Amino acid sequence: MTTIDINDLFRKGMELHSITNTAYPLTPTSLREYAVRDERSIQELLEEEYQNMNCLSLYFHVPFCKSKCRFCEYVVVSGKESDLKDEYVNASLKEIDLYSQIIDKNKRILGFDIGGGTPTELGLQRIEKITNKLFNSFNLNNELTWSIETTPYNAVNKSDDLKGIYDLGFHRISMGVQTVNTELLKKMEREGGTLLYQRAVDAIRNAGYKRLNIDLMYGFKEQSVDDFKSTVEYTVSLSPEYITLYEMRYKLTKIASDAFDVTQSKISTQYKIAYEILTQNGYNANYGKNTFSRIKDDHGTSDYLTNRVINATPYLGLGAGAQSFGLNYLAYNQGAATKSIAKYIDHVNSGKFPIQDIYNLPEQEVIAKAVSVMFYFGFIDLVAFRQRFGKELTGKFKDEIEYLKAKDLIMIENDLFYITEKGVANLNGVIPMFYSDRSKTELMNMDIEKLLR
Ligand SMILES: C[S@@+](CC[C@H](N)C(=O)[O-])C[C@H]1O[C@@H](n2cnc3c(N)ncnc32)[C@H](O)[C@@H]1O
Ligand code: SF4
Repeated sequence: MTTIDINDLFRKGMELHSITNTAYPLTPTSLREYAVRDERSIQELLEEEYQNMNCLSLYFHVPFCKSKCRFCEYVVVSGKESDLKDEYVNASLKEIDLYSQIIDKNKRILGFDIGGGTPTELGLQRIEKITNKLFNSFNLNNELTWSIETTPYNAVNKSDDLKGIYDLGFHRISMGVQTVNTELLKKMEREGGTLLYQRAVDAIRNAGYKRLNIDLMYGFKEQSVDDFKSTVEYTVSLSPEYITLYEMRYKLTKIASDAFDVTQSKISTQYKIAYEILTQNGYNANYGKNTFSRIKDDHGTSDYLTNRVINATPYLGLGAGAQSFGLNYLAYNQGAATKSIAKYIDHVNSGKFPIQDIYNLPEQEVIAKAVSVMFYFGFIDLVAFRQRFGKELTGKFKDEIEYLKAKDLIMIENDLFYITEKGVANLNGVIPMFYSDRSKTELMNMDIEKLLR
C-alpha cells in the first residue's frame, strides 16, 4: 500500500496530462524490474502464457509509410529501410512460424488487424502473403471483421489494390484525415487536403467497403477550437460509418515539446464541440469515448480493438515494434525503441523471437495497463473486469472510487462504470487512480521541469 494522498495523485496526473493518458506504462523503462532477459525464460514464459489463454486477437504491424508525419508516435521506418519491404514480409512469416509452434491452431481468435504505419503501402501481393500465412497458422475466420489502415494519399494512389484487399477479407478500413488545416498539415509534413480526402473516400467506396473509419486529431499547439470544428464538420460531410478522435499524445514524438503549450481546457473544449457535432449528426458514443459510430449496436472499432479495450483480451502483436499483451506479460518487439527493422529481421532470421523487451507482470501492473486502455472508451464494463481478473474493480479500488464519485467524476450504473463530463475534462487525474503502487510513486516523483528540458 502506498501512502500517497489521493488528492495529490489526482493533481499530479492533471499536471502531467501528456504522460498520464491511456498509454501505460509512463516511460519505456518503467517496468524494467519485471524484465525477463534470457532466451530460455522468455520461451518458457511465452509457452505458459499461450497455453493458459482461452482466446486472443492478432495484430500485424507494417512499419512503412510514404513519409513520416511529425506528430506520429508509431514505429515507422525511414531512409533505406523503406525499400526492405520483401525482406520484412519474409522475416514476418518466420515470426508467425515461431508463434504457431507454441499456439494451438484451434485457439479462438477474436480479432485481426493489420495496422501501421500504412499497411496498404505494402501492396496487395505482400498483404496477401501475410494474410494467407496467418490464415494457415491460426484459427482465423472471416466471421470476424478484419481491419486494415490506409492514408488518403495511399487510397488514391494505390486504389487498384483496395478491391483485392477487400476480397481477402478486410471489410473494415480506417484512414487518417487528421485535419483540414493546410498550414498544420504542412508543419506536420503530411499530405492532405479536402480534394484528396474526397477522392480517397470515393476510391474506398468504389472498392466495396461499407465500414469506413476516419481518424481526426486534436490537441495540437497550432490548432484552435474553431479549426478543429471545421475539420469535424467536413468529415461528417464525407459520411464515413465511424469517426475516431485522437487526442495528440506527445510522448516521444518529434513535437514532444509542444505538449506544454497546450492547455487541458482547450483539449476538453475541442472534444466537447466535436462530441456535439457528431452526436447531432447521428454518430453515437458515450461522452468520453473516442470512436463514434452511426451503425446501431456497433462500437465502431475493429473486433481486435473492441476486445482489447472492453475485455482486456490478450493480443499477439507481430512485426517490428509490435506490442503484445498476454494474461500476465507485456512485450515490445524489436524496433519499438529504434524505429528500425534491422534487428527485427536479424532476430527472426536466427530463429529467435524478435522481442526487444518482455515483462512478466504482477497483477497490479496488468490491471493498471488494462484499465488505462479501458478509458479509451470512457467506460469500464465491470462484468468484463470481473471475468478477466476474478475480482471486483470497485473492491480493489474502493477508496479511489469513493473519491472519484464524491468529485462527480464518475458514475456507476448497472455494472457499468462511466466517466462523467467533468471526469472527461479531468481524465488524466482519474487514470492514475488505477495505477499500481509502483507507478503511483513513479508519477509523484516525476519532475515537470525535467520533462520540459
Ligand atoms: C497508425 S496511424 C495509421 C493511419 C494512417 N497511417 C494515416 O496516417 O492515415 C492511426 C492513427 O493514429 C493517430 N495518431 C498518430 N500519431 C498520434 C499521436 N502521437 N497521438 C495520438 N494519435 C496519433 C492518427 O490519427 C492516425 O490516423
Ligand atoms: S500518421 Fe500514419 S502516415 Fe503518418 S507517419 Fe504515422 S502511420 Fe505513417
